[in-house]
Amino acid sequence: MGPIEILLNEHALIRQAIDNLSIGVEKLEDGEKIPEEFFEKAIEFARTFVDKFHHFKEEYIMFSQLAQKKEGHLDAQIEALRHQHERGRNYIVNIADSLKGYLRGEEIQTTTLLENLAAYISVLRHHIHREDNIFYPIAEKEFSEKEKEIILEAFKKEDEKANSRTTEEGKRLLREMGACLK
Ligand SMILES: [Fe+2]
Ligand SMILES: [Fe+2]
Repeated sequence: MGPIEILLNEHALIRQAIDNLSIGVEKLEDGEKIPEEFFEKAIEFARTFVDKFHHFKEEYIMFSQLAQKKEGHLDAQIEALRHQHERGRNYIVNIADSLKGYLRGEEIQTTTLLENLAAYISVLRHHIHREDNIFYPIAEKEFSEKEKEIILEAFKKEDEKANSRTTEEGKRLLREMGACLK
């Protein structure tokens, strides 16, 4: 499997988490009580699998390699993708902060929770769509086979450093999120 295929596969898992979150938001809008566990799993997935695992590989390995290679031609695009990662992290902070208030039934904190969930879902969906359809195809075309091998090696090293079980953990969190919605 090549490095871009790895990232695409990770997107598939992230999309499942976003779909779960969307279902959670609909229930929340309709006044259904969502267990604390659902949000805890979602936050953990966002912080570990999405951010530390997937976005790290993009930002610190692939984006930087591509930026160097294209000598500034892709800087604006890469900056926008980094900005979206950053916004996502902020939304997750706000989601985590408003959770306790929501669980106590506070309406203002529930509003903050809803706003940030909606923003997270929307920005991340858009972000993944851009990467899949615009950015990754550029990377696929620009990198030589040799460069892809080097990136793949760097990915492997980072994955081992992070925790080689992160993908399994991510899948477990997804299953547990889904179970909370039943
Ligand atoms: Fe990304
Ligand atoms: Fe991505």
